[in-house]
Amino acid sequence: MIIEPRTRGFICLTAHPTGCEQNVINQIDYIKSKTKAKAKVPKKVLVIGASTGFGLASRITSAYGSDASTIGLFFEKPPKEGRTASPGWYNSAAFEKQAHKDGLYAKSINGDAFSNEVKAKTINLIKKDLGQIDLLVYSLASPVRTHPDTGERFKSVLKPIGKTFADNTVDFHTGEVKEISIEPSSGDDIENTVAVMGGEDWQMWINQLNAAGVLSKDFKTAAYSYIGPSLTEAVYRKGTIGKAKDHLEATAFKITDSLKTINGKAYVSVNKALVTQASSAIPVIPLYISLLYKVMKEEGIHEGCIEQIERLFNERLYEENIPLDDEGRIRIDDWEMRDDIQAKVLELWKEATTETLPHIGDLEGYKTDFFNLFGFEVDGVDYEKDANEMVDIPGLQA
Ligand code: NAI
Repeated sequence: MIIEPRTRGFICLTAHPTGCEQNVINQIDYIKSKTKAKAKVPKKVLVIGASTGFGLASRITSAYGSDASTIGLFFEKPPKEGRTASPGWYNSAAFEKQAHKDGLYAKSINGDAFSNEVKAKTINLIKKDLGQIDLLVYSLASPVRTHPDTGERFKSVLKPIGKTFADNTVDFHTGEVKEISIEPSSGDDIENTVAVMGGEDWQMWINQLNAAGVLSKDFKTAAYSYIGPSLTEAVYRKGTIGKAKDHLEATAFKITDSLKTINGKAYVSVNKALVTQASSAIPVIPLYISLLYKVMKEEGIHEGCIEQIERLFNERLYEENIPLDDEGRIRIDDWEMRDDIQAKVLELWKEATTETLPHIGDLEGYKTDFFNLFGFEVDGVDYEKDANEMVDIPGLQA
C-alpha cells in the first residue's frame, strides 16, 4: 500500500517500513565507518527499550561496533492488513534482517518490560542462547507502568513543581510560537512519575537477572538521563520527570553496591536533547531543540542518537578510567551544555517568535527528524512505491 504520514499532535499514527529500514541501515553504516572498538567491549547485550531512539542506537552500536549478540526488548504495535505497525516494530525487523545477514545473533521480545512475565521470558532466553550477558542498556521511555507486584497502575506527568510554569513553545507542525502555561504537580503526581520513570524497575531487572546467575563477571549496565539548560529546568529537571531522573541516578549506586560479588557496575549517562517520540511530547523542548540544533549545526557539533551512543561506548563506557561528573554520571551532553552553545541558545530564545523562528532556529531540522522517526522524509526512499506493511521480525520470540 501507499503509506503517508497521519499526524495527531506530537504523534504520527502511521509508519513507513522502507523508511524505517533505511534509517536503521544508515545507523549501521555509521557504526561500520568507525574504527572497531578496543579489547574491552560488550559481547552479549540486552537492550531494554531497543526499538527506537537511544535504545535502538545502543543495540546497533553493540552489534556493529563489537560484533555483540543482542537481545532487544520493546513494546511495539505489530502491523495488521491495511494498518501499519509502530515504527519501533519496523526498526527492529530491519535491524534483525541486517544482523542475521551479517552473521550476528539477534533476537527480540515484544512485551511489557515492567512485568514479571517478560522478565522471566528474557531470563530464559539468555540462559538458553547466551548463558550470561555482559551489558544491559536500560533505555525505557514510557508514560505508564503497572507495578508487577501490586498491580497498581502509575501514570507519569510532565509538570513543574511548586508553581505554574509559563514560557514559549512551538507547534512544530505550524511553526507557531506561543506561550503555554502548565499547572504545578498535585496529589501523587511526583510519586507516580518516579514509579514509572525512576529506577525501581531497573533495579528489579538487575536483581532478577543476578539471582538467575545470568550476569557475567565485570558486568555493566547503563541507563539514560537528561539535565538540560535553565530554560527547560522548571518543566524538566526540576519538574516531576526530574524527580524520576534523580531517582534513576541514585539507583545506579545501589545497583553497583548490589553487584559487588561479580564486580558489576551501573552507570547513568546524561545524553543530549534529541527529537524522539518521548521528547516531542514534552512542552517547551521542541522550541529549545529547534534553537539548539541551529547552533550546534553551525558549530559542526550536532549529533543524533547513533553519534551520541557511539561516543558513549567508544570514549566513555569502555575506558579504563571512565570520566564522570561530580555526581558520578557519564556526560555525553557535554557539547550541548558547552557555555558558548548555551549562551547562543539563550540569546536566540529571547528573539524567537513565529516570524523569526524559521530564520534563527532549525524548525525544518526538527520537523525532518520528527517525520524520520516514523520512516517518512528519509532520503533515498520512494514513497510513491507500494510498501508492504506486513513485516515480520525474524527473531521475535513467541
Ligand atoms: P523512545 O521513545 O525513542 O524509546 C522508548 C523505548 O522504550 C522504545 O523501544 C519502546 O518500545 C520502549 N518501551 C516503552 N514502554 C515499554 C514497556 N512498557 N516495555 C518495554 N518497552 C517499552 O525514547 P528515547 O528518547 O530514546 O528515551 C530513552 C531514554 O533516554 C529515556 O530514559 C529518556 O528519558 C532518555 N533521554 C532522552 C533524551 C531525548 O532527548 N530524547 C535525552 C536524554 C535522555
